[in-house]
Amino acid sequence: EEEAPLKVMISGAPASGKGTQCRMIVEKYGLVHISTGDLLRSEVSSGTEIGKKAKEYMDNGMLVPDQVVTDMVVSRLSQPDVRERGWLLDGYPRSYAQAQSLESINIRPDIFIVLEVPDDILIDRCVGRRLDPETGKIYHIKNFPPENDEVSARLLTRSDDTFEKVKSRLETYKQNSEAVIPTYSDLLNQIDGNRQVEVVFNEIDSLLQKICEDASANKLAK
Ligand code: AP5
Repeated sequence: EEEAPLKVMISGAPASGKGTQCRMIVEKYGLVHISTGDLLRSEVSSGTEIGKKAKEYMDNGMLVPDQVVTDMVVSRLSQPDVRERGWLLDGYPRSYAQAQSLESINIRPDIFIVLEVPDDILIDRCVGRRLDPETGKIYHIKNFPPENDEVSARLLTRSDDTFEKVKSRLETYKQNSEAVIPTYSDLLNQIDGNRQVEVVFNEIDSLLQKICEDASANKLAK
């Protein structure tokens, strides 16, 4: 019998470092990264029906309607690579209804990670964030400046990363996040995200290692 691949949910306020940590997790564990923010931004930039529906909500820092996001996630989760490599859900579920949608089709993670970062730091991280459209790499003008002029010249700022919009995204997060926690209270791991990227990753890495070790120990015991 094949070992079941890892299933991970990562949550946290805007700019708590989800995307940054996900890149490191994927590099080490090979999980399929499913970021609803990335999926929605790509629908918006391709001008699809979903993108047209989502744009206004995103621009206002509000949640896109549950059904739109849930359909997107469930369809991605049903692809064969997910079954083979496992999954890393980033920014979903973000409401009680979204969590219940996954419960109703028996999709549960091995672990639910929440990155905790103080508000004033979140705002600074968002406003300074830059993205490389070619590599997908996430930069920050002060914390993680680009390596050279060539990268620097192509960096983009997300349209929802202005001071005002970040405040409204943060408000939305606070209104919804508590409703998601009870579904995963037995799998909950809150991590201090206000430390160096590598330090945060080491903590996540040990949690994931432990899950893998427990799984193989269980298998041996059978
Ligand atoms: P989404 O794209 O998910 O945005 P978000 O939750 O606001 O999170 P971010 O992508 O802003 O931040 P992050 O935590 O990934 O941080 P990052 O690693 O980039 O969602 C966007 C919108 O889509 C939502 O507002 C909503 O409208 C819609 N949406 C998405 N999912 C939805 C859902 N499920 N339901 C309904 N609507 C949905 O880091 C941020 C910055 O900090 C970077 O510059 C980085 O370099 C820096 N940084 C990272 N870690 C550190 C560190 N340890 N120390 C110092 N700097 C750091």
